[in-house]
Amino acid sequence: MKKPRLYSGMQPSADSLQIGNYIGALLQWRQLQTSYDAFFSVVDLHALTQPNNPEELREKTRRTAAQYIAAGIEPSQSTLYVQSHVRAHAELAWVLSTITGYGEAGRMTQFKDKSARYGTDSTSVGLFTYPVLMAADILLYQSDVVPVGDDQKQHVELTRDLAERFNKRFGEAFTVPIPVIQKDTARIYDLQNPTSKMSKSAESDAGVLWMLDDPAKSAKKIMRAVTDNEGVVRFDRENKPGVSNLLTIYAALTGRQIATIEDEYAGRGYGDFKKGLAEVVVAEFEPVRGRALELLDDPAELDRILAANAARADAVADATLADVYEKVGLLRRV
Ligand code: AMP
Ligand code: TRP
Repeated sequence: MKKPRLYSGMQPSADSLQIGNYIGALLQWRQLQTSYDAFFSVVDLHALTQPNNPEELREKTRRTAAQYIAAGIEPSQSTLYVQSHVRAHAELAWVLSTITGYGEAGRMTQFKDKSARYGTDSTSVGLFTYPVLMAADILLYQSDVVPVGDDQKQHVELTRDLAERFNKRFGEAFTVPIPVIQKDTARIYDLQNPTSKMSKSAESDAGVLWMLDDPAKSAKKIMRAVTDNEGVVRFDRENKPGVSNLLTIYAALTGRQIATIEDEYAGRGYGDFKKGLAEVVVAEFEPVRGRALELLDDPAELDRILAANAARADAVADATLADVYEKVGLLRRV
C-alpha cells in the first residue's frame, strides 16, 4: 500500500535550532516519517526574505540539515533536502503567483505583521509572495498532510485554495493538502519570559535552550529559569507559566504524563525539579549534539547526502511541474 505524503520544512535562520523546534517539530517529524512518505526541506529560498550574510546562510543551511538528521530524520527513509537544490520550487511558485489574488496575498497575517513592523519600503515583494512559494513546496509533492505550527495554518489554507483553484481552472494537477496543527502541549516558552514562545530570534539568550549548545550551559539556564513563589511543582499555565513550561519540556522529552511528574516532585522544591529536568535535557541533547557536530565535521559527506535526496525530490517535483506547464499552455521544449 502506498503511504500518504507528508511535507514540512524549516528556515535556516540560526546557527542552532532551539528545543522548541525540536519538541514542536522534529520529534513529530521523526515519529511521522515511518507512517508517511515524508519530505522535509531546509527552506533556504524562504530565508532570503530576511537579511542574510551569504556565507552565514550557507553555514546555517548545512547546520539545519545536520540537526534534522541528528534529531532522527532518516535521510534514507525520508527525503531530506535543501529547497534551492530543487529548481521546480521557484518555477511552480511563479505559476501559482499568477492565480493568487493581490488582495488574497495581502490578507496573510504574517505579511501584514512584518510589513507593518518594517514599513513598505523595507518590505520586499519576496516577503509578499512568501506564502506562494510555500504553496509550491507543498503542492509539488502532491502532499496529503502538512504538519506546521499554528502561525503557518493560514499559509496552508492558502495552499489549499490555490490547489483547488488550479484544479478547477486547468484540470486536476494537485492533491489538496490538510494542515496538521501542532498540539498545545508541544509549544515551548522562553525560560525567562514564559508567556512568549521560545524562539531562535529571542532578544535575550538566557531563556533559549539551543540544540547545539554545550548541554552544561543548557543545564545552567534551566537552573535559572523563571518560576514563582508558590514552591509547588504543579501545572497551571495561567498562574504558573514558568513551572508549567518546565513540566511541558520534561513530559515531552521523557514521554511521561505531566501528572506523574507532578507526583514525583510533590513536597520537593523547584531546585530538585530543575535539577531533574536538567538531567533529562542533558541526556537527550548530548547524543543529538554529538551526532550533529560529527555530521558538520564532514561537510562533503553531508552535501552528498543532501544531493542524493535532492535528486529524489527532483523526480517527484519535475513530474508535477511538467504537468502544470502542460495544463497552463506553455510550449514544451523539445
Ligand atoms: P521557526 O523556528 O519559527 O521557523 O519554526 C520552525 C518549526 O518549529 C515550526 O514547526 C514551529 O512551529 C516550531 N517551533 C518553533 N518554536 C517553537 C516553540 N517555542 N515551541 C514549539 N514549537 C516551535
Ligand atoms: N513558512 C514555514 C515556517 O516559517 C516554513 C515552510 C516553508 C514550510 N515551506 C513549507 C512549512 C512547507 C511546511 C510546508 O515555519
